This record gives sequence, C-alpha cells and structure tokens, in this order.
Amino acid sequence: MAGNWTPQSWREKPVKQVPIYPDGDKLKEVEERLGSFPPLVFAGEARKLRRKLARVAQGKGFLLQGGDCAESFAEHSADNIRDFFRVFLQMAVVLTYAGGQPVIKLGRIAGQFAKPRSSDTETRDGVTLPSYRGDIINDIAFDEAARIPDPHRQLQAYRQAAATLNLLRAFAQGGYANLEHVHRWTLGFLRDSPAAGRYREIADRISDTMRFMRACGINPDTAHQLRTTDFYTSHEALLLGYEAALTRIDSTSGEWYATSGHFLWIGDRTRDPEGAHVEFLRGVQNPIGLKTGPTMTPDELLRLAAILNPDNDPGRLTVITRFGAGKVGEHLPDLLRAARREGLNIVWSCDPMHGNTVKTETGFKTRPFESILAEVRAFMQIHAAEGTHAGGIHIEMTGQNVTECTGGARAIAEKDLCDRYHTHCDPRLNAAQALELAFLLAEEMARS
Ligand code: PEP
Ligand code: CO
Repeated sequence: MAGNWTPQSWREKPVKQVPIYPDGDKLKEVEERLGSFPPLVFAGEARKLRRKLARVAQGKGFLLQGGDCAESFAEHSADNIRDFFRVFLQMAVVLTYAGGQPVIKLGRIAGQFAKPRSSDTETRDGVTLPSYRGDIINDIAFDEAARIPDPHRQLQAYRQAAATLNLLRAFAQGGYANLEHVHRWTLGFLRDSPAAGRYREIADRISDTMRFMRACGINPDTAHQLRTTDFYTSHEALLLGYEAALTRIDSTSGEWYATSGHFLWIGDRTRDPEGAHVEFLRGVQNPIGLKTGPTMTPDELLRLAAILNPDNDPGRLTVITRFGAGKVGEHLPDLLRAARREGLNIVWSCDPMHGNTVKTETGFKTRPFESILAEVRAFMQIHAAEGTHAGGIHIEMTGQNVTECTGGARAIAEKDLCDRYHTHCDPRLNAAQALELAFLLAEEMARS
C-alpha cells in the first residue's frame, strides 16, 4: 500500500484542470451519493487486465485502446455503442492475425466524459465564457448558464457509464463478438472500400485460417474463445472528486481500486509529479496509463515511474506517447533508452492523434490520416531499432461515418469536414479510417 495515501489525499496537492463548482454543498452531496452507488467494474477484472498487460510489457501481446475523445450525453444510444464495438472488434481480429499475438481490447468508453482544456475560457464574436470541460462538468452550448459546472452531471455520467458498460458486457459475452461474424463484416467492408485490393490478402488469409479451423472442428459452437471476448473500459482520471467517490477497498485483496473503469490514465497536462492527479493514481491498484508529450524528459519519466509503479510491476504502467509524426523520432528513443537503462517494466503505446492535430483555414480541428499513420509507423520502427516492444496504440475513433479526420482511402478533404463533424472535442477516425489503420498497421507488423 502506498504510504500516506487515501482516496482523498490528492486534495492536499495542487490540482490542475478541475473546475470550481459554485455550489460546494451540492458538490459534496453528489460525491456522497456517488460514494454509496455500486461500483461499475470489479477489482478482479482490473487485476485480470493488469495480468494481461504484464504479458505485453514482456513483449507478448498488443494493446488496442480507442474510442471517443469525449463521450456525450446527446450521443448515448445503442446504435452508437454497437457500431463502435463492431469496428473495434474488426480491428482487433486483423491485428491479432497480423501480429500472431493476443490483442487486449480496451475501450475509451463508459466513463470518458471529462476534458482538460488548453484555455479556461472560450471567446466567440467578442463574448467570453468558461470553456466546455466535458459533459460530466458543463454543457457544450455557448451560453453562460450552460457553461456553469453542475455537479448533478456526475450522476448522469455515472448512469450513462453503467448503461454503456452493461451493453458492452452483453455484446462481449452474448454472441455479438462471434469471430465468424466479425470477419464477415470485414469482408463486407472490403467489398465497398476503394483500398480493398491492398487489404484483400490479409483478409483472405484470415478466411483460410477460419475454414481450416472449422474443418478441424474448432468453431464458435465448440470454442467459446471464438464467440466471446474480454473487453475492458478506460478513461482519463481527470475529475478527481468523481473518481475518489468510486474508489473502494476490494474485499479479496484489501487494496484500493478505482471502480469507474478498469484502466485509468493521467493526461499530458496533469502529470506533474507533485500534483493531485499523480497523487490520486499512485494509490489505486488498477493498471494505469501516463500520457507523454514532447515536454516529457527521460528524468521526469523515471521519477513518475518510481512514484506510480514503485515495485516496477509489469502491467501496472502503460506509457502512451503522443509526440506528433514529426517529433516522435526526436523524443521516443531517449525515453526508451532511459527506461531500459533502469530496467523498467513498461507497456509502450502510441497515441498518434494528439500530436497531429491541425486547424484548417475554415476553423475545423482535424488530423490528417497520413500523419496518424506516419506516427504509428515511426513508433514501430523506432521500437524495432531499439529492440523494445511496440506494445499498442491508443486512438480516437467512432463507429459512425463522420468527417472529422482528413484522408484515408475515401480521401476526405478539408472542404468535406463540415458534412458530418460531430465530435464534442477532438476529431476522431471514422469507422472506415479506423479499420484501414488496422490493416496498414498489420502490414507494418508483417514487416517488422
Ligand atoms: C485525450 O486523450 O483526449 C487528451 C486530452 O490527451 P492528452 O492528455 O495526451 O493531451
Ligand atoms: Co482527445
């Protein structure tokens, strides 16, 4: 147990990116209610995920983590959850086949509601209001009342997370994850994709393998691994009052676990070793992530790893690097070397989204598919050169056919962005772009 830690000890530390609620009594009342609600996940599940990540840290396995930048109350529907889950599974099958290793499926979902912002305020046409901080905190409408932090939103976020998780568990265990269906959807996608020719070979090899297994008597009816899957949830642990209210002692181990999701991460803006977010996450026993941008130095990484993973336990710490395609070559090798010198057990994952955001002349935040792919490729090549394991990717994606990131086989242009630009925060890969990224990554895996 981490010394002097309690679920509330973060309150003694400097805290960034957490809103000031005008009504402190109401906030307290909400946090107390949340504290009496059932956990959303069980400690045993978080431990199982941690064991799987331990194998990735040892070079066996791949972490696929993805979902919305920000979940919203408005887009909470069965279709959205199903469409996300479907494309996520399709990606996982392609990557499992290409890498010949287990793929851990970790959604950025069922709790990804709070957003760090680069500015506390937003100005439009001369009017300045507090920034939108995610649906768990305030409303995206550009309206003075809507932007006031409202603690009751935390109760709605909890309910939405519970409903989302419930459907995901049903899909994962109830037959929707059947490998033969998932592969059939991918073949359907390829029939319509302009880049089908390029990906056909991998898809055909998967088809052949499944035909062979079927002939041997291994099929979804005989092997539960082919009809069910393990799916885990994650989000940024930003709104610490909410997280603390859902942090509980596990009766089996006697240890503290955050129960708002299986895996929580610290954002690039809140990873101050002396700050509240690091203090909170050091004390929970879940597997955790640490986002790492260009300002992270090797010494700071070692210091954070010592605080967050003092026992150097493999599977505990995933470092999610997000440098940008042009900067990954400059920053990643030094971090890998420092970690290797110290013998640190780390899962290295690549977030190719947050370092590749650009603003168009028409004011849209977007990400060129080519830059996203370039950062993932560079990440894999650097790991190959350093003799370390490229352990995973972390992406912002949706199952919907949005137009938020440019490029991809359908060549979304800047002028198309206004067609279906729905994100509440950062631009996401649409379903086709996400699956295409998996195929391109599969090619890269085959090369390395
Ligand atoms: C995010 O993941 O949406 C995010 C804000 O990332 P980062 O902390 O890496 O900037
Ligand atoms: Co984002």
